Amino acid sequence: MPFRMDPQAKKKALRQITYGLYVATSRDENGCAGGTINWLSQSSFAPPLVMAGIQRDSSLHQAIVASRAFVIHIVGRSQKDLATSFFKGATLNGDTLNGFRFESGVTGAPVLVDPPAWFECRVVDEVRRGDHTIFVGEVVGAGVRRDEEPLTLREAGFAYGG
Ligand SMILES: Cc1cc2nc3c(=O)[nH]c(=O)nc-3n(C[C@H](O)[C@H](O)[C@H](O)COP(=O)(O)O)c2cc1C
Repeated sequence: MPFRMDPQAKKKALRQITYGLYVATSRDENGCAGGTINWLSQSSFAPPLVMAGIQRDSSLHQAIVASRAFVIHIVGRSQKDLATSFFKGATLNGDTLNGFRFESGVTGAPVLVDPPAWFECRVVDEVRRGDHTIFVGEVVGAGVRRDEEPLTLREAGFAYGG
């Protein structure tokens, strides 16, 4: 008898992976893009690499493919409003995205000034499987603005996965 996976068990088990919560941004010739993501991990010490799973049909995906660069911001415990606002993508207004001020990073991608820490990546590889692309990014810039505990997906009361 073939093994049949229980879809409820698959969903529940996958949702028990523990995650952080991050705002990812990028910029191409069409402008700035952003999104709140949790599918992110460091994947090498030397060189310093991270991997991010990015929705194939998002404007964030489009901007990362075009610019080969992105920025990851750590969301602080006090910044649930920041995370919530980037679920809807990024709207540019002057020098703000969704009302949050940014500067340009070394890759030209927008670096938000409010998060406690950030790092900037150049894409060195990508894996296109399923409905998300895994972008492997080499960390080429980083900054820490203050000490604040990072917000986690579970603590914020959100779910993504399953
Ligand atoms: C709880 C939660 C977690 C999310 N995690 C991811 C993620 O890991 N990767 C991703 O590409 N999008 C993720 N998203 C979707 C993005 O936040 C956002 O909706 C998308 O990038 C915006 O796309 P748009 O610019 O095309 O509107 C998540 C959404 C929610 C509500």
